[in-house]
Amino acid sequence: MKLDSLIPAPLRKPAKPGEGNGAKGAAPADLKTAPPQRPSDAARLGERAKEAPVDVLAWVDQRTAATGFLTGMLFRKVPKGTNWFYTLGSATLFAFIVQAVTGVFLAMYYTPSVTQAYASISHINNDVFLGAFVHGMHKWGSSVMVILIFLHMGRTFFFGAYKYPRELNWVIGVVLLILTMTMAFTGYLLPFDQRSFWASIVGININGTGPIVGPYLSDFLRAGPELGATTLARFYAIHMLLIPGALIALIGAHLYLVVKLGTTAPPWVRAERPKAAKPTSSVDAR
Ligand code: HEM
Repeated sequence: MKLDSLIPAPLRKPAKPGEGNGAKGAAPADLKTAPPQRPSDAARLGERAKEAPVDVLAWVDQRTAATGFLTGMLFRKVPKGTNWFYTLGSATLFAFIVQAVTGVFLAMYYTPSVTQAYASISHINNDVFLGAFVHGMHKWGSSVMVILIFLHMGRTFFFGAYKYPRELNWVIGVVLLILTMTMAFTGYLLPFDQRSFWASIVGININGTGPIVGPYLSDFLRAGPELGATTLARFYAIHMLLIPGALIALIGAHLYLVVKLGTTAPPWVRAERPKAAKPTSSVDAR
């Protein structure tokens, strides 16, 4: 639309001779045609509704400046040679999210008591809607997460991503690995069947063989002279409160450092050398 047509005719600058809308004093061309139809209220409401998500995002963004962070995170530059192996960290993150979501639903039906734990798992598997599916996802998902975390660690090791300046991210990764393994270990006892009972005793005894801290660690895990009700309560608290909280915080720190430092190029990609400046004598002075 021409800006001129928005200004009422009496306020318009008169056209210079030879320009404008024809003969002096004649009505401008846009006033001779019928004004465009105004959109109906319903159409205008529809237009506003289409804009609503953008408006809400803009409202939140003005108050949080979140888009700066999100664009930095989602549209960050990656080095040449980035390949499928770089998706293993995100795959581990996805496995963790699946574990967290399915775990919340399992916790709605699970009872952490030595007399009721097994029965509550049977109830989930046999009676609850999609219970066996959600339980299966959580059980198999734990192995998937352990496999992925090792593959991701292997990728960062073989690509030399533990070196300066990413040592701290490697150290955080080692803690994430220990927490993930502890998560798998403590979760194994929760169904409280024969297999989980005896496997946990073996695991606790193996911990007890560690140097210096070993015996204290196994006492702490067993929470008493024998594996029993307090052990189950302790494993449950560690499994669903302590470690998920620590994992979320450390994954946050891990990803912050990934965004801040960027990822490492594969070892077979050579860094481009800056081109040497030509000696001034050889510069063509044409
Ligand atoms: C819950 C577990 C973990 C999650 C969710 C996770 C997630 C990620 C993601 C998304 C990235 C960026 C993309 C990529 O390189 O794959 C990354 C990078 C990295 N991770 Fe992990 N990670 C985990 C565990 C580990 C472990 C166990 C280690 C090593 C002990 C580790 C060390 C690193 C390092 C050094 C980088 C930087 C890679 C580079 O600069 O190329 N992470 N992580």
